Amino acid sequence: MGMSLEGQKVIMVPYMEAHVPKYHVWMQDPALLQATGSEPLSLQEEYDMQLSWNEDPLKKTFIVLDKGMVEGKFVHGGPHVEAMVGDVNIYMNDLDDPQLAEIEIMIAEPKSRGKGLGKESVLMMMAYAVQNFGIHVFRAKIGESNGSSLSLFRKLKLPDQPNLMTLPSSFHHEALAQGNIGVGSDRAKAGGAFAVVW
Ligand SMILES: CC(C)(COP(=O)(O)OP(=O)(O)OC[C@H]1O[C@@H](n2cnc3c(N)ncnc32)[C@H](O)[C@@H]1OP(=O)(O)O)[C@@H](O)C(=O)NCCC(=O)NCCS
Repeated sequence: MGMSLEGQKVIMVPYMEAHVPKYHVWMQDPALLQATGSEPLSLQEEYDMQLSWNEDPLKKTFIVLDKGMVEGKFVHGGPHVEAMVGDVNIYMNDLDDPQLAEIEIMIAEPKSRGKGLGKESVLMMMAYAVQNFGIHVFRAKIGESNGSSLSLFRKLKLPDQPNLMTLPSSFHHEALAQGNIGVGSDRAKAGGAFAVVW
């Protein structure tokens, strides 16, 4: 079982088989497909995709849980489908710079938008990527018409150019400072905003 990351508003868990049916329903929505630049997949293709996310060393994904929707106590290793509201991904696919990661965020459930979950998930993923993969530059490719996503990344005070935002190498210090990751063999709050669990 992979790691889970706990923040103030979200818990980020590995993409598990049990998440696939709900994820597949989300990705039939034309608006979400357009916003994320995705192609619709069949259910079987989505199951194959879930496996590939866990096997490919050049990409990493977490399913975002809205902490306020977790029923009962959070159980590490449990899918908590009732609370799944989106996902956050990185791709280390730049041939010239293996320490550059493209980052994507989706909060698919409308009722969980506008509550800071997207922003916290992006910051936690960045801090995770710096610590675990030595990433020093992040990129987000955002459509010009995607006002909410542009606004989210601009709130992180990143320099931008049309369709592409690149974080300066100094940014990870900010992400780490805000994240203050703790690492432990049990769910351990390390006195910071979020903790790492596996
Ligand atoms: C874009 C998206 C990830 C934002 O997630 P979210 O959880 O609703 O955003 P947050 O609540 O964390 O907001 C972060 C900042 O973005 C801004 N923002 C978010 N939604 C906004 C909207 N609809 N209009 C204007 N600004 C918005 C807010 O100003 C907020 O800043 P604040 O913290 O100072 O209030 C979410 O709407 C989404 O998944 N949309 C569809 C998929 C998508 O577009 N993904 C991005 C592909 S690059």
